[in-house]
Amino acid sequence: MFNLRGRSFLKEADFSPTELRFLLDLSRDLKRAKYTGTEQPRLVGKEIALVFAKTSTRTRSAFEVAVHDQGGDVTYLDPGGSQLGHKESVADTARVLGRMYDAIEFRGDRQDQVEELARHAGVPVYNGLTAEWHPTQMLADFLTMHEASGKPYDRLAYAYVGDCRFNMGRSLLVMGALMGADVRLAGPPDLHPPADVVELAADIARATGARVTVTADPAEAVADVDFVHTDVWVSMGESKEVWADRVKLLAPYQVNRELLAASGNPDVRFMHCLPAFHNAQTVVGAEIIAATGMDSGLEVTDEVFESPACIVFDQAENRLHTIKAVLVATLGA
Ligand code: CP
Repeated sequence: MFNLRGRSFLKEADFSPTELRFLLDLSRDLKRAKYTGTEQPRLVGKEIALVFAKTSTRTRSAFEVAVHDQGGDVTYLDPGGSQLGHKESVADTARVLGRMYDAIEFRGDRQDQVEELARHAGVPVYNGLTAEWHPTQMLADFLTMHEASGKPYDRLAYAYVGDCRFNMGRSLLVMGALMGADVRLAGPPDLHPPADVVELAADIARATGARVTVTADPAEAVADVDFVHTDVWVSMGESKEVWADRVKLLAPYQVNRELLAASGNPDVRFMHCLPAFHNAQTVVGAEIIAATGMDSGLEVTDEVFESPACIVFDQAENRLHTIKAVLVATLGA
């Protein structure tokens, strides 16, 4: 057992590989307990603030259900629903919430905001997504890959294709390095992660035995992998003006039948943190598809998304079990 009580989770590298494995084992135990009706409430009397400066479906729902399952309570502060950022600084908000709550989840634009919150709150803070990192998503992704392949974490081989500059590319690279996996990123050179992130992953990989590759060649990245990940090509907050250029740049990295076939693995699986633009059934998806003519889907085709290779809803469910593990490990009685 590892005592993670009182710890924050702001980025993957906050925890050692052994601690991350412990959280993944605990996630599996908690998932089994929920399925078998044997869950023991460990958060009775705990109050968790959920501060969302940006919208969410999965992360908010996972935190709310996890806390409820464990006997605790939450307060949801929605984007624009608190003084944060308008009339009150991050540091002052942290000092207020830290007096009332046992822990704080924060989703915002920048990593320095969640780091500032954690410095001043005096209680554990969990990063529910910043532009730089998405650590709770990583636990769900690794649990899902382990369940789908039956392989230990350090035998997983996966690729992330698309825009590698932001949270999903960075987090999959560094988490893969921490877990000793074979992780490849493929995207246009201008959309690779920053050099310091690639160096961090390479440094960690030297210690863990991981293999980390960053390339512009999507076929090289997916060769022999078990999983192909991608994320949206236009991130939250970006303007419509960037769509046309971005889509042109990223079209060779679309996850389609041909790219999955290039893995050479008939059992290759598709993953996406969601939401995904795979059809025109959303307002934004319809607008981008109409503007770009990408009518088979954007970062992933509808054909792949609706195929048996797609495990995105297992991945989404695992947000619940893994976030619950973080809460129980850091706060549980
Ligand atoms: N994957 C993810 O973070 O989903 P939400 O934006 O819906 O929380």
